[in-house]
Amino acid sequence: MTVQISPSVLAADFARLADEAASVASVADWLHLDVMDGHFVPNLTIGLPVVEALLRHTGLPLDCHLMIADPERWAADYASAGARNVTIHAEASTAPVRTLREIRSQGARAGLALNPATQVEPYADLLPEIDMLLVMTVEPGFGGQHFLDLVLSKIARARELISRHGGEIWLQVDGGVTDETIARCAEAGADVFVAGTAVFGSHDPTGAIKHLREAAQSAAVSWQHPG
Ligand code: DX5
Ligand code: ZN
Repeated sequence: MTVQISPSVLAADFARLADEAASVASVADWLHLDVMDGHFVPNLTIGLPVVEALLRHTGLPLDCHLMIADPERWAADYASAGARNVTIHAEASTAPVRTLREIRSQGARAGLALNPATQVEPYADLLPEIDMLLVMTVEPGFGGQHFLDLVLSKIARARELISRHGGEIWLQVDGGVTDETIARCAEAGADVFVAGTAVFGSHDPTGAIKHLREAAQSAAVSWQHPG
């Protein structure tokens, strides 16, 4: 398992997005963009024009997390614009199979996100359709919230389902990920870690990413080699 860190620019300075992206470009694996529409979640952030503009200014692959109603309408456009990963929410999607296939057909990785209260088992049959499962570790909508421990057992069950499925599916966590909580997520089986406040709220974003990666890697080692 390879640990990947996807810093969320939700905690960055939106007026200086290109500079903020550049500040983590040498150490981050992805750049996580939270697209919120004020309907699916009670917050409004950025949309396709900003993603397109940022693509012209960063070499980092973009990880677009769509917290929007009607992802059927928009998801493929993010993929065709050049986002390397596009994640839709299970709770928002009325046609997830079609939408996930559209994302892939535009050349992007397809992600499926689950809110804290959404169980993973009903989505087991969708695993062949996805490249990443995102288990939210806070209620989506805002950065800077406290990590929800109650999600840890779902992360472990998701890892189990993914292992049984056998494909190369990444397991991402998002919300309240810090130096301390990242180890528990990695122990439970997560391998892609979104962090907003812990990275862009730090005076040293590069150092923060290195620390997060080290903490996840040592915890993941104990998960892969129990005992
Ligand atoms: C929340 C977003 C997260 C957010 C995480 O709905 O999906 O990506 O930026 O922020 P932190 O790391 O501050 O919890
Ligand atoms: Zn997110």
